[in-house]
Amino acid sequence: MYPFFRSLLFRLEPEQAHSLTLGLLRLAGSLSPFRALLRNWFSGPGKPVGAFGLSFTNPVGLAAGYDKDGLAWRGLACLGFGHIEVGTVTPRPQDGNPRPRLFRLPAEHGLINRLGFPGKGGDFVADQLGGRRPKELVLGVNLGKNKDTPLEAAARDYLELVQKFAPLADYLVINVSSPNTVGLRRLQARQALEELLGILAEERQAQVLKLGRHVPLLVKLAPDLSEGELDDALEAILATGIDGIIATNTTVEREGVSGSRLASEAGGLSGAPLRQRSTRMVSQIYQRTEGRLPIIGGGGVMNARDAKEKLEAGATLVQVYTGLVYGGPGLVKEILKGMSR
Ligand code: FNR
Repeated sequence: MYPFFRSLLFRLEPEQAHSLTLGLLRLAGSLSPFRALLRNWFSGPGKPVGAFGLSFTNPVGLAAGYDKDGLAWRGLACLGFGHIEVGTVTPRPQDGNPRPRLFRLPAEHGLINRLGFPGKGGDFVADQLGGRRPKELVLGVNLGKNKDTPLEAAARDYLELVQKFAPLADYLVINVSSPNTVGLRRLQARQALEELLGILAEERQAQVLKLGRHVPLLVKLAPDLSEGELDDALEAILATGIDGIIATNTTVEREGVSGSRLASEAGGLSGAPLRQRSTRMVSQIYQRTEGRLPIIGGGGVMNARDAKEKLEAGATLVQVYTGLVYGGPGLVKEILKGMSR
């Protein structure tokens, strides 16, 4: 049935289609009969997985950026995900880049976005995460800096967000890899990353003492790092006791989409054209860290085969975003069914 809905959704401007979908999921998630119905339709045969001290009912999660403001996670949780990552959240509200800033590449099953962290800010998102939560759902929050915060002061933004969200989230992600906030990716350089993560790891320890539970801290990396840059980032990550890595964010490269008239749009490319690049990176991280750090593999997971590829490369969990746009709400079930075969 989804191909029919998709053809209607794809007649809308991409951001409009996304807002409509989120609105419907928010509504469905707020009403318990709808939640039960969705769960009935979309739950799949998941095998539990453990990573960074948390238990996941299955390895498939929702990547950051889909539910930036935490509006629809209750509805999304009914689509079978083992974990959901809300955000990227910035401390203060901001508009993001001018529209249009999201583009579909249907022939390639890709998206290009240059949203630039539009969002309602930390206080708003924190309000959305309160209340009861399905006990089997793992909820992560992905953190970023505001556009107008100078890079030198970025630690302050992340620190404020770690303090705000540690009590509300099962895990936190330090996003230093979006291509759409000027300079952000420079925080992946060895010294900058070690300084930033050192400060945040210390605050995390303070939160662990306060809350009486571990709060895993993850870092999300770009797929465009050279081997040397990746090694540097991994050294900083290992030195500061970070719990895991999300690989990867979107790419600024355009391999596999040169035939599209939209390939020259600025922003990060996601979906099928990113798959191989991000799998390669998962594999490099796994080998370089000798499997010591759990990896969440994302980038072009469109079906069960792609999910298996990430797990075989060394990932413990996978995440999807663009796959959901092209595959629809039955995607998680389809992946879980395919993986159980
Ligand atoms: C993203 N992604 C993203 N990542 C992140 O850490 N913070 C964010 O705010 C966003 N925002 C965002 C918006 C849009 C429209 C897209 C398509 C993607 C990146 C996303 O989480 C994921 O890492 C990549 O998209 C790769 O996975 P897929 O889409 O190929 O499954």
